[in-house]
Amino acid sequence: MYATTFLLLLALCANRGRGEEKQSRGHVSVVVVGGTGDLAKKYLWQGFFQLYSNQVSRNTFSFYAGGLLSADKAMPIFFGILKAVPCPKDVSDERCALLKEQFLRLAQYRQLKSHDDYRDLAQQIEQQAQEEGLTEAGRLFYLAVPAFAYADIADKINTNCRPVDGAAWFRVVLEKPFGHDLRSAQALAAQLGEALRDEEMYRIDHYLGKQVVSKILPFRVENKKFLDPIWNKHHIERIEIVLKETLDVQGRIHFYDQYGVIRDVIQNHLTEVMALLTMRLPTNVTDGEELLQNKLRLFSSLLPLGKNRAVVGQYQAYQAGVQQELNKTKDYISITPTFAAVLAHMDSAQYDGVPILLISGKMLDERVGYARVLFKNDVFCLQHDFYCKPKEIIFYFGHGSLRYPAILVSKNLFKPSLTEGEWKEVTDHTNVNVLGSPLSDYYVQTPTVQREAYAELISHIFAGHKNSFISTENLLASWDLWTPLLESLAGSFPRVYPGGADNGDLLDIHLKGKEIAYKRDVVLLGADQLGVESAKSFLVMQGKYRGAHMVSAWPEELVERLAADIQEAAEAAVLQGGVFHLALSGGSTPIALFHRLALHHFSFPWSDTHIWMVDERCVPLTDPESNFHNIQQHVLQHVRIPYYNIHPMPVQFKQRLCVEDDAAALLYQEDISRLVNGSRFHFVLLGVGHDGHTASLFPGAKAAHSDNGLVVLTESPIKPHRRMSLTLSAINRAHRVALLVMGKGKHELVTQLSRVKDEPNKWPVTGVKPTDGTLAWYMDYDTLLG
Ligand code: BG6
Repeated sequence: MYATTFLLLLALCANRGRGEEKQSRGHVSVVVVGGTGDLAKKYLWQGFFQLYSNQVSRNTFSFYAGGLLSADKAMPIFFGILKAVPCPKDVSDERCALLKEQFLRLAQYRQLKSHDDYRDLAQQIEQQAQEEGLTEAGRLFYLAVPAFAYADIADKINTNCRPVDGAAWFRVVLEKPFGHDLRSAQALAAQLGEALRDEEMYRIDHYLGKQVVSKILPFRVENKKFLDPIWNKHHIERIEIVLKETLDVQGRIHFYDQYGVIRDVIQNHLTEVMALLTMRLPTNVTDGEELLQNKLRLFSSLLPLGKNRAVVGQYQAYQAGVQQELNKTKDYISITPTFAAVLAHMDSAQYDGVPILLISGKMLDERVGYARVLFKNDVFCLQHDFYCKPKEIIFYFGHGSLRYPAILVSKNLFKPSLTEGEWKEVTDHTNVNVLGSPLSDYYVQTPTVQREAYAELISHIFAGHKNSFISTENLLASWDLWTPLLESLAGSFPRVYPGGADNGDLLDIHLKGKEIAYKRDVVLLGADQLGVESAKSFLVMQGKYRGAHMVSAWPEELVERLAADIQEAAEAAVLQGGVFHLALSGGSTPIALFHRLALHHFSFPWSDTHIWMVDERCVPLTDPESNFHNIQQHVLQHVRIPYYNIHPMPVQFKQRLCVEDDAAALLYQEDISRLVNGSRFHFVLLGVGHDGHTASLFPGAKAAHSDNGLVVLTESPIKPHRRMSLTLSAINRAHRVALLVMGKGKHELVTQLSRVKDEPNKWPVTGVKPTDGTLAWYMDYDTLLG
């Protein structure tokens, strides 16, 4: 461990690395607290190895992994991690092997629990410098630990590990989460402020180390002459900042369930990207103070984010993960969102009215991250579509179809300037589509050498460049923006999505003015019992009820599904026999269905459809109580149907209402027999009342159920008492029968009905059993689940 002087000499001869940073030469101690954890393993040691390879000619180093584990347990883990660290891309294998060997010799693990442990560490750092005659250049502490431990560790570091004479620099790096909301972020900032000065703290947001993200401002400056005229509300259609991930959060639920997607990536990563895209350009992009002030001004110009500015979702398997990892029972429900889409707007002359979408989610169909500025295009192309193609600039962070980070500018926009050396133009346009357009539609620039975000940021920390880190003011301004939204979403049930490609259009959104909503306006319950196969089947749950087919969904989806089924039956019947006989019931339940059919199903074969009545109240047809009146209001007046295809029940005959002697029921029956093949309606729509009645067949009305007639007069316990109704035998002849039941109020009834046997006298609806046709129950989730 005391071989640093020798190593410095060795490295001085060997080094051919980059050398852009100006640093005081000397000895640097790097301490990663949480040094054998996941983050350290995945990114940090790789970043420090890269730093070492770049800096070894100027400085000497010691690397310490600190943790709660005892040294004998942690040491093998730590060296396993170091051995697996990959070589920097711009270093030859031979040189890398040499550097790796040195790196391993300079590294050690130390248990860091108590004040004494930290004091011993500081002593070792000082002793080493003394013994080897090194001048200390700096101490870097990286806290890769859960946030709750920050204050305590910061205190121990402050008390024991500050460089004594003040000649060496002292930097402490912190990983998010930096709080949970504005208040907790303020409290944490205050606690940390007791141990560390602001300039000593480096809050990491690794997105700021992504090459494309850190290029946003320079790109805007370099292309100012093209962008100035179009970077405003008159030209920008919208801005999208998207991070789609395919992975779930398995193994991280302890953390994730308290945070969710907005706190995990939107409040920080995506917000920072938004700021870089929309903040006023500083006169000098390296002037930290000006950058901060411009960013803060931007935050204050954002309109408050209220509830209708976001939609949230949760992948279906999340609940099971929560139950397992948090050891919860099956009835525990977590409403932590794993998907969110947020719509932001700015109150500024430059961006007024420009929608800014921030979207992220786990278990989506692909892994990709990008920020896209889409410009308005009002050109109409008659022949060559070049000018009509989308006009956009895409800051592509990586992954996705392109697989590498890049900046893409539509060729019909402008040719961006290029920073030679660091970035290169991509000209071999492979057969790739980016966000729907072929790559050849863009000017594409990519970094000459791809570098890991953490490695980039580690080199900035080492160089003391603070611009790519989150200052306290910046952090609090961001929480100030997000906290009201998070509060207003607390308690909202996220839309459940199946995950992967099966999500289909379930998470598609649309913008209504300043508000955002799911394109499909339904809210879903988690339904892990469904055996989900696709978004379509996910929305609608299929099962069995009273031995018949059952379809269940939230109301709008259910109604659409029934409307689609009726249309399908209509088309099949018309194709086969040129006519479709549809019998409709009354009441309020089917009104939404009637609307859906009349106003959304424009290809419905109305001209070949005959409308019949399932039942009628003995009132004039013009009376608002009349079922026919209902159908007239909600269907017939909206569609083109020949009037001789409409068959109201003749309840008013010879100016009299439902007089037995008039044999009006018989007349209707004759009409049915004459016009409907085999008296078999193609489709019968029924409802069910609280007492189990269906059509106008009420409990106890034996006559209505036993005879073979098709139409009868009946008595209702509630007004208007006199009714005309199809009989069970008419209903049961039908090809298809649908029982539509909706609303919480019917939950008890369907629970009871699920237990009773077929007793048509007591429960008339249990007599609905098509003899040669099919029956399906359509129940919304309120009815089904109560
Ligand atoms: C992290 C989040 O900050 O960012 C993770 O905690 C997320 O949940 C990750 O997966 C995304 O980063 P990247 O670089 O893979 O896009």
